[in-house]
Amino acid sequence: RRAPLLAPSFLAADLANLQAETERLADSAADWLHFDVMDGRFVPNISFGLPVLQAVARHAKQPLDVHLMIEEPQHYLSAFRDAGASIITVHLEACPHLHRVVQQIKQLGCKAGVALNPHTPVAMLEDIAADLDVVLVMSVNPGFGGQAFIPNTLKKVAMLKELLVDAGSDALIEVDGGVSLDNAGPLVEAGADVLVAGNFVFSAPAGPVATLASLRDHLA
Ligand code: DX5
Ligand code: ZN
Repeated sequence: RRAPLLAPSFLAADLANLQAETERLADSAADWLHFDVMDGRFVPNISFGLPVLQAVARHAKQPLDVHLMIEEPQHYLSAFRDAGASIITVHLEACPHLHRVVQQIKQLGCKAGVALNPHTPVAMLEDIAADLDVVLVMSVNPGFGGQAFIPNTLKKVAMLKELLVDAGSDALIEVDGGVSLDNAGPLVEAGADVLVAGNFVFSAPAGPVATLASLRDHLA
C-alpha cells in the first residue's frame, strides 16, 4: 500500500492569520492545501472565495486543491485557475453537463476533480471515470467542518476503486470529512489516495504540523 497524500483543510485554520497558517504548513507533511469554497446555495453555509484563495496562493508552497461547493461552477473555473488553483473539484450534483465542465477544467491546465455527496452512488461516474484526475468522496454532508465520519464511506471507496480499475482510470481517490487517526488506516486500505483533514489537524492541541506528521507516521 502506498502512503496517501495529506491535504489539510483551511476551513479549520485560523482564518484571521492565513499567511501564518500557510507558512507553517510549508515545511509540514501536507502535500496539498485544501480550500473549501461554499456559496450558501449548493450547501447551507458560506465560506470564502477568489480573493482569499489569491491571498493564500502568494504564500503557498504546495498545490492548492480547490473544492467548489457551489452551483454553476462553470462560470468561475478560469477565475479560480487565475487565483492559483492547481486542482479544481466540482460537485457532480451541481453539474448537469459534467463532461463539459471537466474538459473546461483540463483545458485551463488544472487537474480535474469530481466530488460525490454521501448519497450519490459511484456508478454515476462510470462514463466519465477515464477523464478524471481526482474523485472526491464526501464522508460527511458538505457544508461544515467538524462533522462525524459516515462509516459507509469505506465500502464506497472500495467500490470506487474497483470502478476506476475497470474503467482504466488512474484518478486519485480523495476522501473529505471527519478524517482522523480512527479511520485513516482503513480508508487507505480501501483505496484512498488523498486524505483531507480539517478539525483533526487544526484543532489538535499539538498543532497542525505535529498532527500531520503523526498522521503520516501512522500511515507509513
Ligand atoms: C466540508 C468540507 C471539508 C471540511 C473537512 O464541507 O468539504 O473539506 O473542511 O473538515 P473536517 O475534517 O473537520 O470534517
Ligand atoms: Zn472539502
